[in-house]
Amino acid sequence: MEQTRDIRREYTFTQLRRADLAARPLQQFEVWLQQALAGAVEDATAMTVATVDGAGQPSARIVLLKEFDQHGFVWFSDARSEKGQALAANPKAELLFYWREMERQIRIRGTVSRISEAQTEAYFRSRPRASQLAAATSVQSQPIESRAQLEARFSALEQSSKDQVTRPDAWRGFCLVPEAYEFWQGRESRLHDRFRYRQMLDSDTWLIERLQP
Ligand SMILES: Cc1cc2nc3c(=O)[nH]c(=O)nc-3n(C[C@H](O)[C@H](O)[C@H](O)COP(=O)(O)O)c2cc1C
Repeated sequence: MEQTRDIRREYTFTQLRRADLAARPLQQFEVWLQQALAGAVEDATAMTVATVDGAGQPSARIVLLKEFDQHGFVWFSDARSEKGQALAANPKAELLFYWREMERQIRIRGTVSRISEAQTEAYFRSRPRASQLAAATSVQSQPIESRAQLEARFSALEQSSKDQVTRPDAWRGFCLVPEAYEFWQGRESRLHDRFRYRQMLDSDTWLIERLQP
């Protein structure tokens, strides 16, 4: 097997100049996401959510971005999960997108809150029935004896939920309101382009700084 320390590649896809950047990071995110979707980046809406629990222990996992606008970035999950418990103790989090095909990384840091019941319910109803059943079957991140137990619970719910699957109370939408963004474009010889946007206190103005690679 190839030595992991010898695995490397040059990043030559494109560059990111100060003059290319939108004044607001949300617009910049939209431009890059459009390019990622048009450029057939696989799983472009998959993002890592990094949290820190009440004891200061960080943890990270991937979820799917479902909505984003000036109010924030939304994903859906189970409040009983490890991330749900961490966010209840400490609402600070960071989202991370890695778009390999475009040699791009985006970090979005901020504070997370729940979205409204109405918005959560509307999204839950839009999901395929099997996904609704899975959400209702699972107490996410809790141990279970066997796969068979999980499947039995799923089947029982499928039978008893003839009309509509009831959304578990703990299944909800989470929204991160950004305070800072970073856009990273890989460049040759590891001299990458990095720009950070930070929101000026109590204003709608964003400070843009180039960061050293
Ligand atoms: C591509 C991909 C998409 C995922 N999407 C979600 C999602 O939207 N919501 C979610 O709760 N978990 C999602 N997961 C599972 C999470 O990564 C994780 O296993 C789960 O949320 C439990 O995490 P926790 O124990 O840290 O809370 C996804 C995993 C992958 C690999």
